[in-house]
Amino acid sequence: MLNHRFLTQYKDPESFVEGAVEFIQKHIKDKKVFCALSGGIDSSAAYLLLKKAGVNVLPVFIDHGLMRIIRGKEERVWIKETFPDVKVVDIRDEFLPQIYGEGDAEKKRKLFKKAYSGTFDKIIREENCQLLTDGTILPDLEESFGVGMDEIKESMSFDDETALREAQKGLGFVKSQHNVEIQYDVEATVQPVASLTKNQVREVLQYLDMPDDVVFRKAFPGPALAARIVGPVTEEKLTFQKKIHDIVESAVDDFYIAKHGKSMIINEKGEQEPFQVFAATFEDATNAEVTGLKDGRRTYDKAKCVSGDWNFDQLVKDGLALTGHTRLFYQLGEKEDGKFDAVIRCINSIDARTAYITNLPYELLQELSSKLLEVPDVRRVYFDVTTKPPSTIEYV
Ligand code: XMP
Repeated sequence: MLNHRFLTQYKDPESFVEGAVEFIQKHIKDKKVFCALSGGIDSSAAYLLLKKAGVNVLPVFIDHGLMRIIRGKEERVWIKETFPDVKVVDIRDEFLPQIYGEGDAEKKRKLFKKAYSGTFDKIIREENCQLLTDGTILPDLEESFGVGMDEIKESMSFDDETALREAQKGLGFVKSQHNVEIQYDVEATVQPVASLTKNQVREVLQYLDMPDDVVFRKAFPGPALAARIVGPVTEEKLTFQKKIHDIVESAVDDFYIAKHGKSMIINEKGEQEPFQVFAATFEDATNAEVTGLKDGRRTYDKAKCVSGDWNFDQLVKDGLALTGHTRLFYQLGEKEDGKFDAVIRCINSIDARTAYITNLPYELLQELSSKLLEVPDVRRVYFDVTTKPPSTIEYV
């Protein structure tokens, strides 16, 4: 299997799109290409570029049942409205029972990888696709290979890449989360957005006239809500997680739209603010091991939970100076009953390699906490004030 990547120095969306269309036509010609849409901006941009290039593309969305709900809308409904040609493949009945009960983070990731690649290969065969397109972007490549764009060639064989990865072993790895090492049952992959950063992808989407809910969509991890349910996933926790996530993401979106006219801004540090905003589900946040990041490597430890006066700058500083814990959680509220803890995470970032805490007004955090405490199963509500490093963005 070959990987073809459009590697270019980005200047502006117009010249990028022109170059990408040429690249796509050169590598796809009259072949049929399978394009996996995840609902995220990277794969959406890849798909739109293929459409613009006029090639024979089959867009596919795999519904495994662990996607977020935003504004009351399930992802499968949103994606069909946004990209009406998409083929939605429902694997919920087979996939969910496999993930239920699994608590180990890396095992959860592997289950997703297996489900994705197996489903991809099945559709690729059934639909006679010779090629595959995905939304790999520059930080994915650099993190996986541990090298910059200049050391990657436009067309590389799977073996060339394995050698490159092996040579850099240990340097690029934080989590086994990028899909570059999967071999699909196709002649080649075509990766039109491989040289873009997240914000450049947003510029391209804007240039292609996509609405704000696509352009400013918050990143979402491949292992989906399994990355935000700490410990074993159960049907009950999944329902809970979807509910609390929707409350958090929708309210923070509303706040930014009211203040800035859009749900994401580029702040004075050049970060997308907020880059991600979500809720996580814990059985007991005071006693669960969550991921941290130390010397470029992943660590696991408990969170330190604090309450008392709200002082954003001090809390962020304390989070940075943590020892023996991977996170600092500030408690916003609690009630007597309830089963699970909800943690609010809201971060600003350029490319997810580092992250800073969004300085949300305390009134908004309190409002969020009250809304969350109205959910019968919510026991305590926390705001995570730990930057990356020393923590990671997600909890697994
Ligand atoms: P972390 O948690 O490593 O996340 O700071 C960095 C960025 O990657 C996303 N993320 C993942 N994406 N598979 C993915 O496709 C994964 O296993 C995974 N884990 C984290 C995360 O949402 C953030 O944007």
